[in-house]
Order: sequence, then C-alpha cells, then structure tokens
Amino acid sequence: MGLEGAQMMSGPVGFSFAETDIDKIAAAAGRVAVFVGDDGTLDRAARRVNRLCRGALVRMIEGEAWEKAKPGEVSSLCFPAGLAAEAVDVVKLNRRPTVKQARKAGASLAKRLGKAGLLLLAGNNAKSVEIVTGLALRAYVFETHKTSDPSERGDVSVMASKPDELELASRAALAVAEGVHFTRDLVNDPANHLTTTTFAARIQEMESLGLKVEVLEEKQLEKLGMGSLLSVGQGSDSPSKVVVAQWLGGKKGTAPLALVGKGVVFDTGGISLKPAAGMEDMTMDMGGAGVVAGVMRTLALRKAKANVIGLVGLVENMPSGRATRPGDVVTSMKGDTIEVINTDAEGRLVLADVMWYAQDRFKPAGMIDLATLTGAVIIGLGHTNAGVFSNDDVICKAFLKAAEAEGEGAWRLPLDPEYDALLKSRIADMKNVGGRPAGSITAAQFLQRFVKDDVPWIHLDIAGVASIKTETALAPKGATGWGVMALNRLISDGYEG
Ligand code: BES
Ligand code: MN
Ligand code: ZN
Repeated sequence: MGLEGAQMMSGPVGFSFAETDIDKIAAAAGRVAVFVGDDGTLDRAARRVNRLCRGALVRMIEGEAWEKAKPGEVSSLCFPAGLAAEAVDVVKLNRRPTVKQARKAGASLAKRLGKAGLLLLAGNNAKSVEIVTGLALRAYVFETHKTSDPSERGDVSVMASKPDELELASRAALAVAEGVHFTRDLVNDPANHLTTTTFAARIQEMESLGLKVEVLEEKQLEKLGMGSLLSVGQGSDSPSKVVVAQWLGGKKGTAPLALVGKGVVFDTGGISLKPAAGMEDMTMDMGGAGVVAGVMRTLALRKAKANVIGLVGLVENMPSGRATRPGDVVTSMKGDTIEVINTDAEGRLVLADVMWYAQDRFKPAGMIDLATLTGAVIIGLGHTNAGVFSNDDVICKAFLKAAEAEGEGAWRLPLDPEYDALLKSRIADMKNVGGRPAGSITAAQFLQRFVKDDVPWIHLDIAGVASIKTETALAPKGATGWGVMALNRLISDGYEG
C-alpha cells in the first residue's frame, strides 16, 4: 500500500502503510519505533519489543532520563539483543497526544532516520497522521550544492490498527509536506541559481500537476503599466517577471482567493545599498513568493476543491547605471505616483503592482500577500511570529485560527489611517518609506493603498519567520516554509465546499 507518484514527497523519504503485525518486529532491519505513554503504559508492540530484548525497554523507562523526557521525545536502545534492528526508538507519547506533541514525536524520529529505514509501530495512536506529518516535515535536507554523498534515508513502514484510514489521511498530510519542502528548496537556493528566470521555470513545471501557469515578461508588464515593480528590477540583468498560477478546483465562477508573493530573488538594497555584513541573507527575500508557490503545489497535489490564484512578482534589486535612484518618481499600475526615497524599500513597490493586477483581473473574494518586507517586524516579533495586518476581522480571525492549529506563529498588528501621514510626499502621491517609527505598519499602510475597499485582505510580513538560523520544531536551520500549512488549512476550512 505504498503512496505513489505525485503523492510522494519530493525528498527521498517514502511511506507505506500496513496492518500491525508484531511478529515482524524481530526481523525488521533499520530502526524500530514504539510508543510508551508518560505513565509508562506499553502498547502491544512495545511489550513485544521489551520481551524480545529481555526487558531492556522497561529498564530504560524506569531510568531517570526517561522520567525527565517530555512528550514527543525519544530515547534509543542501540543494537538491542534479540532484534535484527540497529536501534529501537522509544517515543514518549500518550495515545491521545496534542498535535504539537505528535508532530514533535515524528520530528524526533526523522532526525534519527538512516538509510536502512524505519518500522513505525503507530498502533492505535489517535494522532498517527500528525506523527507522519512531523516525520515528513522534519525529514528535510538541502544538499543541492554539496558534492559529498547525499544523506540517504530509507523508507518508513507504518504499522497501524487502521492502515487504510491512516494512509488516506496521510496522503493529504504528505501533499502539505511536499509543498513545504518545495518552498524550503526555493528559499534556500542562492540567487545565482534561483534567478527570476529559473524561479519562473520552477513554477511553470507545476503545469504537470494541473496548474495553469502564465509568465508575464517585461514588455507585457510595461503595457500593463507596472512602473512600480519594473523600477525595482531595472538595475539587474535578470528580467523582471510576474508569474500567475491558477488552481481552479472549486465551483466554476466562484470568485477565487488570491495569494500574492514578494519574489525579490536578491535584495542588495539597490542604490540605497545594504551594508556588507549579513547581505548574503537576502537570498531569502523571495520567501513570500516561495510560500505562494508551495501552497499552489499542495493544492494541486491534493486536488483541492477551491479556486485559488497564486501571483508572484519576481525581480532582483541591484545597483547599476540603470538602477532606480533615490528621489525618482515612478507610476504604479493603479496610477498613483510614488517617490522612491529609499531603493531598499523595494518589496512594497513590487507588491503594489502585483496586488493591483490580481484584483483588476481576477476580482478575488479575498487577497493575502506574503513578503519578507521589513527588518522592523523582526525587532518587534523576533523569529517566533509573523506580522499579520488586515482590513477585515473575519478573514483575519480565520487565518489566525488556521495558523494556531498548524503551530505557525502569527500575531496581528494594527493598521490605522493616522500612520498615513508618514507616507506623504512633497512631489508625488506618496513616498515609499515612512521613517523608523512603526516601520512594519507604515509598510502595511503603503500596501493598503493598493487594496480595493471591498476586498478582504491580509498582509503577512514574514521577514522573521521565512528562514531562521537555528533549528525549529519541524525544520532544520534555514528555510522553514512558514505559512504553507496555515494557508492550506485556511483554504480547506473556508474555501472548499
Ligand atoms: N528585504 C528587506 C527586509 C528584510 C530584512 C527581510 C531582514 C529579511 C530580513 C526589505 O526589502 C528591506 O530592505 N526593508 C527595509 C525597509 C526600510 C528601508 C524602510 C528595512 O527593513 O530596513
Ligand atoms: Mn530591501
Ligand atoms: Zn527586500
């Protein structure tokens, strides 16, 4: 009962599901995982393992280390006598754990997974699908640019009391994990590899999954009047592009949800050049576009019954003889003029045009933009929560609920017309920066000028959460894929049927 084809995750880890057969434990190669409740209750599989290794499991859980372990943590018995396996991973987890505990359990197992694979004895754990989710999400490596042997990870054979049910539920979970991995791959890739052109191609490849993809080139963007977006990319040799990916799995004629992503493949700051220290991190400045691409992949893989349009503005912000200067005035597709005070506040210039185009063409029922927009949001919220801004309490609450359910930190910050005064320009309709105070809010106020009054809209400032230098619960160092799960859940809860 293997998961095949498009249902498989992009990484080398495969999953199969079968009914529990504890007679297969003794001969299993690789690792064997069993679950023990925090009261020390052994399920059937754990009892069998304990018998096979002549009580070593019980001796372990009577020890101090086990007592201190938190739910979801693992202690390993290495090369246990009586089993063919190289190790038994004993997971502290109750039969009815929280989602977070179950995912943590899966992540703990993923970190130990080797090339000989894993026999996961999930039994009748109520959150087995979350264990699979955590395992799939954490079993991620980015080795595209390493010449050393890739880390091989064998398959995971899941034994469960209701394998068919679990397999069906896991299919959707693995579609989500594949979307998250796709986002991470894009965000981790450096800018000489992920150019505007190769990024567009990566999205276009998803036509094979049933997405309809269009790539708008500079000539067309000029015709559309996207002077704001084009002003950001004009200093680069890489051509600016807008990619439109449509997933129309919902009722014909139902207004879609529009997802708009900032895709600055590299942000030097432009003529308002950033300092050298840390500039290499700006390879992740296409994180918003990366999330949009990952969500679209997930929707296609799980054949979501919703109409969703993903739009990304792909540009590179470089200084050159052709680059936009501080003080230049550009005209947006909407018609508003913008005085570019600081060429490093480029994300909002990109989003302004793509958001306007999204509303103009698709008349969406809602619009959500994602962007690594401001350093200020990192000062305010750190790497734990994304900044959430919205003109509509209903869609905003639905999003916050989805993010909470998926364990993706999100915190609402205010919009207020009073901040608009900070964006007044002497010579144009607005300027592109509002100064140091409330930097993330003035960026959001800027964006709101490009949102039509009746369109429910959320702006997600993901500068702090898109890529993190320390390991997180479900991701290794680097790109997290933050937002793919929350948006997928928002869509499945609110836009399907
Ligand atoms: N891409 C940056 C924001 C950013 C900073 C993302 C750190 C991830 C980590 C954005 O384009 C930018 O440069 N913002 C400026 C705006 C300022 C000039 C008003 C910033 O935050 O300093
Ligand atoms: Mn910038
Ligand atoms: Zn930027």
